[in-house]
Amino acid sequence: MCGIVGAVLPKAGKTAEETVLEGLSRLEYRGYDSAGIAVLDATSPHPEIAWRKEVGKLSGLLASLEEQPLPQATTAIGHTRWATHGGVTRVNAHPHLSYDGKLALIHNGIIENAEGYRLHLKQQGINTISETDTEVVAHLLERAFLTEPAPADTKLTPQGFTVADLDPDNLQPENLSRLVRSMLRVTRDLEGSFTLLALHQDCPGVIVAARRSSPLVVGLSEEGNYLGSDVLAFASRTKQALEIGQDEVVVVTPTGVLVLDQSGNQILHTRATQVFPVNPAEAKRAFEVDFATDRVTKEGFSTFMEKEIREQPRAVAQTLDDRLDANGALTLDELRITTDILRGIDSVIIVACGTAAYAGQVARYAIEHWCRIPCEVELAHEFRYRDPVVSVRTLVVAISQSGETMDTIMAIRHAREQGARVLAVVNTPGSTISREADAVLLTHAGPEIAVASTKAFTAQISACYLLGLYLAQVRGNKYADEIADYLEKLQQMPARMQTVLDRYASHLGVENLEAIKSVLFLGRHVGYPVAMEGALKLKEIAYLHAEGFAAGELKHGPIALVEPGQPVVIIVPTPRRPELHRKVVSNIEEVRARGALTLVIAEDGDESVNAFADVVWRVPASPTLYRPLVDVITLQLFALRMAQALGLDVDQPRNLAKSVTVE
Ligand code: AGP
Repeated sequence: MCGIVGAVLPKAGKTAEETVLEGLSRLEYRGYDSAGIAVLDATSPHPEIAWRKEVGKLSGLLASLEEQPLPQATTAIGHTRWATHGGVTRVNAHPHLSYDGKLALIHNGIIENAEGYRLHLKQQGINTISETDTEVVAHLLERAFLTEPAPADTKLTPQGFTVADLDPDNLQPENLSRLVRSMLRVTRDLEGSFTLLALHQDCPGVIVAARRSSPLVVGLSEEGNYLGSDVLAFASRTKQALEIGQDEVVVVTPTGVLVLDQSGNQILHTRATQVFPVNPAEAKRAFEVDFATDRVTKEGFSTFMEKEIREQPRAVAQTLDDRLDANGALTLDELRITTDILRGIDSVIIVACGTAAYAGQVARYAIEHWCRIPCEVELAHEFRYRDPVVSVRTLVVAISQSGETMDTIMAIRHAREQGARVLAVVNTPGSTISREADAVLLTHAGPEIAVASTKAFTAQISACYLLGLYLAQVRGNKYADEIADYLEKLQQMPARMQTVLDRYASHLGVENLEAIKSVLFLGRHVGYPVAMEGALKLKEIAYLHAEGFAAGELKHGPIALVEPGQPVVIIVPTPRRPELHRKVVSNIEEVRARGALTLVIAEDGDESVNAFADVVWRVPASPTLYRPLVDVITLQLFALRMAQALGLDVDQPRNLAKSVTVE
């Protein structure tokens, strides 16, 4: 889970470097153990790669470049790292250079057969200096380049596409042809996942890239072309983006881009922002970036997390917005399966990780209640290995903010191999999961930068409610007027979320936060996944032991944890569901009787909790299924204020990254 950025411009200057550094700052949430950049000036009579890398956050690299600037360049690649292979050291930071120093490489992913190659290189007298798999690939590319026979012509594809067709001003067409063939040859034999970006001194003015099971998108513009792990990398430069598929090689010049399949056959090429696919169906790879890049600032808040917590009413409203067609029926963003197939679905399995999985657990209550088909939620990394019962009548719903979580990607691939249909609920258009699904329901939360997910969670829940209502509509479980009622009540939730923010964003009424050592969270029905999400937030950003339980489970063991002063958060359902409400109020009594510090979430007007609560967080009365949208806000704020009281880095917590793009 690293951040990768590339820029290829026609003129030399500082723009390529600045573009890459700006892109890295937008991707730093993907990893921040170290950062590095390599640049090359194609207009120089003697192009030479210049590079810098530093351990720690991007700020360290920026300070180093301030002190010792790099030369001007036309081309640049940059990387921000979350360590997988090799410790957090400067020598393990990217970029990695080939033995002769003429090739610079950055990489996101894990090369699973790297150690065998490392040994083989050693036997050839080439010793690696780092512990990384990436350096091994840099040496493999160098050796392939040096041994690749000089081409008889400058064809780049068997179909005869030449370097001149792509970049008429390219000065080293033969070398570029060799580098492309080297990338194809080397990546064909690699095992594992990778996004690779390579610069070579002998063919300046070009970035050659490759991807397998790791994200890569290309940005197209009249001024030059860009690459990134996600569109945020270049969204401030261009809104024209291009999806890159599995096992493809990309040649990026200032004027055009060539995309090849693993066999070197041309898939498409571009000129400025125009896309020319060999097969017209590939034209759909081009898409418009819809992220407003100005949202990637903190907008005056001290942390992205605080900003994103406060953005939730808008994130939910935007996710719910514009979902009805001309006939008033619900629609999805992309549907590549027929409604007949959806009518034939006899079970739903939601696969996701972390917070996204808790959103799925909330959604399950709604989908089963509205659609009357079994709906289970499985952690993506468990799904594949439990030999799940999946058929052509199973709908697998993948929930993912980034759309790049490798565990979830592998789970949907397994599901498809079993014949299931896949529907993606993602926040990142053009992401791998959205591309590989049969149908897509986009959340419109906008970029979520803080590692701890907040607005994506409430947007995912809202999107899943839409999915449940859509399935109920398609399958005839609910009449149109019933669906309209549910939707109307759902559209009232952003205002209620804002009420909770207005009440508690400034003060939660809990003293001595820094003295708290652990917290238990109790919830029942849809409150149960919210309890677990509340615990996860504390773990992630306050580094506290916290655990979410089903309230009914308390007396089956966890109550032994309760001692005087133990903070316990209890989510109390609406009194309008007495069979749930009564039991949870009893749970409060049980823990209070043992001296717990009770922090209670309860609806306005529900006075039944007052006698047992040390703190009450009030939420506006809401339909039971929709309560998570208001309840979770107080828990997000609780974790945020706790982390701030402890002086911790809220947006970039230790050991974590925003998108876990390795298994
Ligand atoms: C949530 O706060 C965490 N950052 C993590 O659990 C996250 O939800 C999980 O890794 C899934 O990420 P995704 O939604 O991008 O797939």
